[in-house]
Amino acid sequence: ERRYRSADERTVDGRTAGVVSGDATEEAARRRTFAVISHPDAGKSTLTEALALHAQAITSAGAVHGKAGRRGVSSDWMEMEQARGISVTSAVLQFAHREQVLNLLDTPGHADFSEDTYRVLAAVDCAVMLVDAAKGLEEQTRKLFDVCRHRGVPVITFINKWDRPGRDALELLDEIESEFRLKPTPVTWPVGIAGHMRGLVDVRDPERMLRYTRAPGGAKEALEETLGAGQAAAEHAGDWQQAGDELALLRETGAVHDPEAFLAGKSTPVFFGAALSNIGVRLLLDAVVDMAPAPGPRPLADGGGERPVEAPFSGLVFKVQANMDRSHRDRIAFVRVCSGVFERGMTVTRAATGKPFATKYAHSVFGQDRSSVETAYPGDVVGLVNAGALRVGDTLYAERKAVFPPMPTFAPEHFSVVRPVDIGRTKQFRRGIAQLDEEGVVQVLVSDRRGEQAPVLAAVGPMQFDVVRHRMENEFTAPVRLESLPYQTARATDLQGAELLNRSRLVHGEAMHRVRDGVWLGLFPSRWHISSFEREFPDSPLETLIAAH
Ligand code: G4P
Repeated sequence: ERRYRSADERTVDGRTAGVVSGDATEEAARRRTFAVISHPDAGKSTLTEALALHAQAITSAGAVHGKAGRRGVSSDWMEMEQARGISVTSAVLQFAHREQVLNLLDTPGHADFSEDTYRVLAAVDCAVMLVDAAKGLEEQTRKLFDVCRHRGVPVITFINKWDRPGRDALELLDEIESEFRLKPTPVTWPVGIAGHMRGLVDVRDPERMLRYTRAPGGAKEALEETLGAGQAAAEHAGDWQQAGDELALLRETGAVHDPEAFLAGKSTPVFFGAALSNIGVRLLLDAVVDMAPAPGPRPLADGGGERPVEAPFSGLVFKVQANMDRSHRDRIAFVRVCSGVFERGMTVTRAATGKPFATKYAHSVFGQDRSSVETAYPGDVVGLVNAGALRVGDTLYAERKAVFPPMPTFAPEHFSVVRPVDIGRTKQFRRGIAQLDEEGVVQVLVSDRRGEQAPVLAAVGPMQFDVVRHRMENEFTAPVRLESLPYQTARATDLQGAELLNRSRLVHGEAMHRVRDGVWLGLFPSRWHISSFEREFPDSPLETLIAAH
């Protein structure tokens, strides 16, 4: 029994991962911190479970949010609240594979697509892009990929559901190349078209075929066996021949994994498989270990150079989760360790204020489990409880000061005017909205025209509004009414652009400014309105937002 639950009992291949007051450099080199990005239904939960089962799960795989548990629940957040009065969305799954410690950060998908989803990508070193073989690239995959590109996060591609009818493999590669300007370099290649999968070839070992067959007794996991080229040709003539021809073509076009191009975000190693039957999952796991970068030095704000992993402790708060339960108003701040060794109980400094923060209540957060963490290394994530003072984007450090660049804010796509239900609670209303803005739950926009009584809330995903509604009522005792506005997209602009937009008598859209950073945003009903505004006022700049500062 190699599974273990609490971080201080961890044993990884006979070595102790959690308690050695190890060398940060050595431990960092053993870490791989990554996220899976995908469109809902591509199989993220299935893959996560398969990965965790494959590896030595450091937490029980049951802690992964399975589909059954998710159904009919608007978010993990609400689910957690119902279940036990604490809330954890961005769970981290830690597991070991071949001497390495893998941290898989959950990117909440589905209805709970929100700024949090994007922020997780600030805390990883690599992303696995999961693509449904029948659907190809989909909307949320595109958005998440944009963020990876923007942040320089290298991407490994896994084409899933090859056991079901789907698109042509080469066509899927073409789509990745033309849409993302990203060169796909297959590392495994399917034998048999989608829905008629016979096996996989590892392109590094092309004289062998990994054959998969349905396991007897209805087990989900397929049986794997290795065939030599002769046997593969004899038993799977047409499919083996076709795979060989396609691989030859790929070699000719130079579609070969190139570590440098991959790390520079110019190419993506591609894997095929079926998460549901555990096909191709081990090879993907190997790739995360062999190809994904270990935590490295992180750039500091304002040209302050870099913080190397061996420097004293520093960490980045990438998510703050408020407790939904009124009687337990703690907040959990999720901190990615960037340098040094984190030890529970150590006092760290919050860079924004220079004030100390005690880390007596540090937890590793695995799925729905919380257990105390004693020690964490670069790449690991710790959850700090009682973190009311911490904000998304905060840097924490020990000894030597570090300040990481601010967390980017993302282009909102949903806009609602918010008003207090009870005018008598205006004070609480204002305080609540200000706090939610500060925490990064939503972006708050104001304009002279609408006045301060009716700020506009801007969000990346509609679930952010549910959170506002719930917390305003329960935490700030100021229930709110939200009225959605017919805008779907925003661009950053300057004062002049904002004035032109507002003077166009709302023909094109409306300009407001964001309270958090003072940036002017033009809100538009559609991309068509943006083009029309740009045609009419070619001199007033509109900037695409991912990171608007
Ligand atoms: P998500 O987290 O990305 O939203 O996807 P999830 O894992 O929940 O998978 C979505 C559906 O796709 C599930 O089916 C799942 O069983 C199926 N699926 C995932 N990977 C594979 C695969 O490799 N092959 C095949 N054939 N199916 C796969 P569902 O019908 O929505 O749910 P369920 O009733 O099977 O649980």
